[in-house]
Amino acid sequence: MMSDGLTSRDGLSSGAAAPDGRSPDGRVPDVLTVAGLSWTVGGSAILSEVDLAVSEGEFVAVIGPNGAGKTSLFNLISGLNRATAGRIALDGTDITTEPPHKRARRGIGRTFQSSSVFPTMTVAEHVALAQQVAAKRRGVVSDPLERVRLTEKSSALAADLSHGDKRKLELAMLLASGAERLLLLDEPMAGVASGEVPELVDVIRTLHRDEGRTVLMVEHHMEVLLGLADRVAVMHHGALLAIDTPERIMADARVQEAYVGDAL
Ligand SMILES: Nc1ncnc2c1ncn2[C@@H]1O[C@H](COP(=O)(O)OP(=O)(O)OP(=O)(O)O)[C@@H](O)[C@H]1O
Ligand SMILES: [Mg+2]
Repeated sequence: MMSDGLTSRDGLSSGAAAPDGRSPDGRVPDVLTVAGLSWTVGGSAILSEVDLAVSEGEFVAVIGPNGAGKTSLFNLISGLNRATAGRIALDGTDITTEPPHKRARRGIGRTFQSSSVFPTMTVAEHVALAQQVAAKRRGVVSDPLERVRLTEKSSALAADLSHGDKRKLELAMLLASGAERLLLLDEPMAGVASGEVPELVDVIRTLHRDEGRTVLMVEHHMEVLLGLADRVAVMHHGALLAIDTPERIMADARVQEAYVGDAL
């Protein structure tokens, strides 16, 4: 499905922004533009012709059955894997062939589906490490632990944190590393106890709403996405099946069919 952020099938929008940040036609400029993105491994098409545009400050959720290609999409955007066809642009600059560290320097940050903290390091040491890596980057925030409401646990060992706090720490590391343009969050609620989910959702909501961070987040639970995501992108068998408001996606018969067809 073609999203309205794309200017042409294989082109990438690169219109000059007006002084207020809007493009000449009054639209909020795209932070991320993905066009015809495909990834084939050993003859299997994992991702096929994905078109997606995410505008400045937008929150787009990515849902889809297991194996739909959500993490693969993040791997291509962050540079962990190289696309076999198609284009990826950040702020109008083509980054399709750039290595991950260059994309990170441009302000793309990601978290992984499995929690990735170092058990024997303290919370504060994690943040210091991320700040060190990002020493010369712009957009580094000085108080990342405060932003994720983890300040009082700064001297705790990561091993002693709850799953929710580990996820918060990963977010703090993203902020400390200068990921100011695009946050790619791959199932940040995975493994988190249900009692901790509302607080974590609120932290993410604050980063998005109050700080205007642009977010692309994989999440399985629609109830989490209502009131959080501006739009929901549905992936199915490596393709983008639909992208629309959470309410319209929930009512979309094709989406229900994709889930029922795969889940049962
Ligand atoms: N490096 C790889 N080599 C070959 N196949 C892969 C590779 N990475 C992923 N795949 C396959 O691509 C498909 C999509 O995987 P992906 O991890 O992107 O799905 P997902 O939507 O994130 O699923 P989940 O909800 O389980 O996290 C799966 O069939 C997976 O086995
Ligand atoms: Mg995944």
